[in-house]
Amino acid sequence: MLNFNFYNPTRIVFGSDTIKQLDQLVPAQARVLILFGGESARKNGTLDEVRQALGNRDVREFGGIEPNPSYETLMRAVEEVRTEKVDFLLAVGGGSVIDGTKFVAAAIDYPNDPWEILQSFGQHIEKAMPFGSVLTLPATGSEMNKASVITRKATQEKLPFMSEKVFPEFSILDPTKTYTLPPRQVANGVVDAYVHIMEQYLTYPADGMVQDRFAEGLLQTLIEIGPRVLAEPHDYELRANLMWAATLALNGLIGAGVPQDWSTHMIGHELTAAFDIDHARTLAVVLPSNLQLRREAKQGKLLQYAERVWGITEGSDAEKIDAAIVRTRQFFESLDIPTRLSDYKVTAGDIDGIISQLQQHGMTALGERQDVNLTLSRQILEASL
Ligand code: NZQ
Ligand code: ZN
Repeated sequence: MLNFNFYNPTRIVFGSDTIKQLDQLVPAQARVLILFGGESARKNGTLDEVRQALGNRDVREFGGIEPNPSYETLMRAVEEVRTEKVDFLLAVGGGSVIDGTKFVAAAIDYPNDPWEILQSFGQHIEKAMPFGSVLTLPATGSEMNKASVITRKATQEKLPFMSEKVFPEFSILDPTKTYTLPPRQVANGVVDAYVHIMEQYLTYPADGMVQDRFAEGLLQTLIEIGPRVLAEPHDYELRANLMWAATLALNGLIGAGVPQDWSTHMIGHELTAAFDIDHARTLAVVLPSNLQLRREAKQGKLLQYAERVWGITEGSDAEKIDAAIVRTRQFFESLDIPTRLSDYKVTAGDIDGIISQLQQHGMTALGERQDVNLTLSRQILEASL
């Protein structure tokens, strides 16, 4: 096992009817800004419930944070926080709203141009405003991690940053708040969480026995409940298990002490930035061909994945690996998520542009062994057509 330093200060309040606990979680004298996305939180009553729970606190709202939250919109929120002297932020929404809130929290007192937060991947953040979240979409793990991904529309860039200063103080996870999700977003959530686990699990064996068993348990849970959670949208237990699995997939626990990959994500971010494809769908496209092309370097873990997650015990090593990759692709497709670039109208002629974006963003040595260079990224994209 590798050495590690695991830190996660986020309080999770989980269960139905928990939004009212905001009254204890948000400081009584706080001047609060609620940040939210389009209209879903208003339409399904979550926003009303939040406002009611905040009682007589001084509360303002900032709506309109887009999926793949934009720097341009978030800088308007930064202005509002400054002029209204807000001192506590509350994100109500999915990963985009929580990521956006993290950016606002870090940008308020940032001494330089806030875009530099993304250019330096967050390493110079010294402080951030306190904030909490009410999660409405299980997928990203943003509710319990220190990561955020922001898009600059003007330049079509989508970049991540990370900082221990932007862990939410608390996140409320009420599975009933996910009942109104469209099937497409539920499927996206299952696949995003699945690929988060794969990025931390499917590397090379590092004797992280606990981490491996946790990861395999989470993957099997997603395989088991994925199709059911779509078929039975009001089943509380299924939603609760999806929500907790997605949080545990990316709160640092399963990745501590083991090598991590993340190349599927970094290539996927460029596809979202250039073609506006949903985050999870980019992952469903890139992961199978990424595994296929790196099957030798990943052989040990691919065999373990085949046997322990999919129960594939027959055939040669090569046949087991083939079968595991096929089952992975079929799983994504069973959720109605196409897994080929051509399904999203991306063609061979678009690959040069994606490669030059990767280069521009310094994404030239990705993966657990930093061997995913631009040549390999190109091969992965070509194999994904
Ligand atoms: O905007 P509204 O109207 O709220 O609608 C949203 C949005 O259109 C809707 N939605 C959310 N909750 C709903 C609901 N609709 C009905 N009922 C509800 N309860 O869902 C749509 C998508 O929301 P979004 O927040 O964009 O989805 P998701 O949670 O998948 O977040 C995706 C973003 O997170 C980033 C992605 O890159 C992408 O920008 N990621 C963040 C990570 C992190 N912070 O650690 C890691 C991930 O790998 C990922 O990169
Ligand atoms: Zn993701």
